[in-house]
Amino acid sequence: MVTRALIESVLTRARERSRLLTDSVDDGDLVAQHSPLMSPLVWDLAHIGNQEELWLVRDVGGREPVRVDIDALYDAFEHPRSTRPQLPLMDPAQARAYVRTVREKVWDVLDGHPLAGSPLAENGFAFGMIAQHEQQHDETMLATHQLRSGDAVLVAPETPDLGGTPEIDTEVVVPGGEFVMGTSVEPWALDNERPAHAVDVPSFGIDTFPVTNERYLAFMDDGGYERRELWSERGWSHRREAELAAPQFWEWDGKSWWRRRFGTMEPVRLREPVVHVSYFEAEAFARWAGKRLPTESEWEKAARWDPRSGRSRRYPWGDEDPDDTRANLGQRHLGPAVAGAYPAGASGLGVHQLIGDVWEWTSSDFLPYPGFSAFPYREYSDVFFGGDYKVLRGGSFGTDAVACRGTFRNWDHPIRRQIFSGFRCARDVQGEQA
Ligand SMILES: [Fe+2]
Repeated sequence: MVTRALIESVLTRARERSRLLTDSVDDGDLVAQHSPLMSPLVWDLAHIGNQEELWLVRDVGGREPVRVDIDALYDAFEHPRSTRPQLPLMDPAQARAYVRTVREKVWDVLDGHPLAGSPLAENGFAFGMIAQHEQQHDETMLATHQLRSGDAVLVAPETPDLGGTPEIDTEVVVPGGEFVMGTSVEPWALDNERPAHAVDVPSFGIDTFPVTNERYLAFMDDGGYERRELWSERGWSHRREAELAAPQFWEWDGKSWWRRRFGTMEPVRLREPVVHVSYFEAEAFARWAGKRLPTESEWEKAARWDPRSGRSRRYPWGDEDPDDTRANLGQRHLGPAVAGAYPAGASGLGVHQLIGDVWEWTSSDFLPYPGFSAFPYREYSDVFFGGDYKVLRGGSFGTDAVACRGTFRNWDHPIRRQIFSGFRCARDVQGEQA
């Protein structure tokens, strides 16, 4: 049941995070471009407010525009990220005042709104969509923080560590057969997660845990980056061109590997999932391991299919919303937790850490499900289908729970690795005794 209180709490949580990410750096940092891949943080902030104004103030609320003159400036489709610093953007003080004004109006719209009456209003869909939109930009802003140079400004508690070393190089065999993929009932699921449909998935094996730094180092030590035969044609030419030799943000000091994380240099921790690898690196690792990446439907079956009931659940652990014991989400920590840190979050089949920690590359292209219809606008998903994208699943430590479900689909170019991307492997087991 979507209530006004729930909407209020997810919108407030998103805003607190946006403020943390933008108040923790000075104005110079807010307007700077820390990478051509990213917008200046002040663009993200005002864009968050502008989308909120468009959908909640003007469309759902039917109110007068706050600032009709800035729509084009903050339209992500009109201006690629690399060009945004040159735009006549609002300065940080103006952007902060703007998002505050918009939010005040949104509280007024929400007050007394029936949360029904149109597809956008039903179950507060537009409010949920806007909360997810803000959180998605917060994750992007977190990635910008990772790319910025300078002192550390973000602080968070260490990830939980269970102490004991679980046997990490294990797999779960998923029996073949139909399962229900996607959803038609999740109130805030986005158009690309819909509709629910049956998919027949032949039996396969999937890693119990995401691939750890320890395993990834074994691939590197075995010449993984130099062995042409491990890479796809596109992957190899990208590896050479971009001179890839380790995950992004790793540095070799002559004795061991270090990594820079949000402005702090730390030794690479062996038992943590590897993060900041591209699809092409994941693909090469999988070939080295004698495996492959899972398809999107394999990933979702491993995550949602409950072998006892035969039903697909909202999350790996069941239908209850994520909490601190089940998944590392919401920037509660500033990195992925060690393999085995969330036994309470394991799926019905016994696969761990599918939600949170690191986004997981799948081998699938981003395509519509059968029966897809664009809602509420084509630019959310439709215009990306069939592009040069691979689907990522499961969310990362930087993904908020409101923007993370067993059905949630993310997509990016296979060369990208500034995102919080890792992976796990799968393999065919047909003909083997399951
Ligand atoms: Fe956006």
